[in-house]
Amino acid sequence: MKKENKNAFGMIGLGTMGSNLLQNIADHGYNCAGYDNDSEKVDALNNLNRENIHGFSDINDFAKSLKSPKTVMMLVPAGKIVDKVIEELLEVLAKGDIIIDGGNSHFNDTERRYRELEKKGFQFIGMGVSGGEEGARKGPSMMPGGNKEAYETVEPILKKIAAHVNGDPTVAYMGERSAGHFVKMVHNGIEYAIMQLISETYEVLRSGLNMKDEAIHKVFEKWNRGRLQSYLIEITRDIFAYKEKGTDYLLLHDIKDEADAKGTGKWTSQAAKDLNLPVPIIDIAVSMRNLSKYKNLRISASRLYPDSRSVKHDDKDDGYIHTLEQAFYFSMISAYAQGMHLLYRANEEYDYKLKLDLIAKVWRGGCIIRSKFLENIYAAYKENSNLEHLFLNDDIHKSLAENFPGIRTVVSEAALRGIAVPAFSVALSYFDNFRSKEMPTNLIQAQRDYFGSHTYELQGKKGTFHTQWKDMG
Ligand code: 6PG
Repeated sequence: MKKENKNAFGMIGLGTMGSNLLQNIADHGYNCAGYDNDSEKVDALNNLNRENIHGFSDINDFAKSLKSPKTVMMLVPAGKIVDKVIEELLEVLAKGDIIIDGGNSHFNDTERRYRELEKKGFQFIGMGVSGGEEGARKGPSMMPGGNKEAYETVEPILKKIAAHVNGDPTVAYMGERSAGHFVKMVHNGIEYAIMQLISETYEVLRSGLNMKDEAIHKVFEKWNRGRLQSYLIEITRDIFAYKEKGTDYLLLHDIKDEADAKGTGKWTSQAAKDLNLPVPIIDIAVSMRNLSKYKNLRISASRLYPDSRSVKHDDKDDGYIHTLEQAFYFSMISAYAQGMHLLYRANEEYDYKLKLDLIAKVWRGGCIIRSKFLENIYAAYKENSNLEHLFLNDDIHKSLAENFPGIRTVVSEAALRGIAVPAFSVALSYFDNFRSKEMPTNLIQAQRDYFGSHTYELQGKKGTFHTQWKDMG
């Protein structure tokens, strides 16, 4: 193959994401190559009959078809397969070549792979890719981290294939080593929290307000035209209108109420715990997906404790829908704020050199958590890129304060009526503790010292202290 005809980009893993991303790259005039060990997938790629896309069943031929330094992206399931593919790639690539892991790898794996590959002279990028199949085809949001020089080499391609918001591509160098996958993991944690809030909203609408599908569809439709405009509200609106051909009811009603999870939300909770940083809205979202899986247990319990949900209003109470919208806005801000706080803390601990304004900028389009509100978050970090917590920004403060009535009403009424709104409740309690100069945790310190001599600190006095709380004699 003549040098000028060689492929500018190689993809390993030709599932829908890999194939769509390649087509997106080809749309921008680049010659590209795809490899998969499943020959049907290679055939499917070649059957697209795109002049500048070439599918290979042989990894050697695939590698030979690439321009140097060769750029190869993997879009394969996270875990051991990634290590296996890297091993195979090292046989056919040369020092200086670029390997990109575009899957949802755990950041600890990316950290290890980065260090190992660096030692061997390869350039490694761990890159979060968000936006699902449609995003891959039309413009994803991408969060690359790792070797900066390598990023600069592939940046022109990535900028072209990304989504664009106000002319800006939704891709930027996130930071060192595993920073890209850490950022993507937190993205997913926020995704879990917002999805949980939306499902609780559904519960309030159907069980608390007795609303029918069409009316629920209209609520999400209206919200999506206002300040809650976001991808997740938009798809929810559509789900509340989707009927299978030949049926006169929503497909949603046939779907089991047991939510799956590939694990990125759990990783976010775990990573936060390792840093002693609170992200309770993400924790609760993970836990509620887990609880949903205990269907039989829930059925048994429902017999023992019959449903006590009571309806507050019948259908179409616009005043209450506005209250609920306020509660949602408040809690959604909390979900983003807790995720961003985790990024702030991780940046200190892991020295990623993250730029929180850039992260918000990249999340404004292409990804699953894209929303109108990300403009406000971006503005907050643009004003102060070292902002420790979003709640401390003046505009965010105003947004929260305006919506106190909504969140308090929804949480308290739901509690009285037996309607579960755990994420809304957590958003409110997190806030009420967050803004407390004094938490009741002095008591926990006293208890720890009482039963375990763990000592305590005193206000206005240096040192640690222990008390013999009870006369043991
Ligand atoms: C994205 C999504 C994606 C994720 C799925 C499933 O940003 O495009 O976050 O990366 O894999 O949405 O995640 P769960 O199976 O954990 O729900």
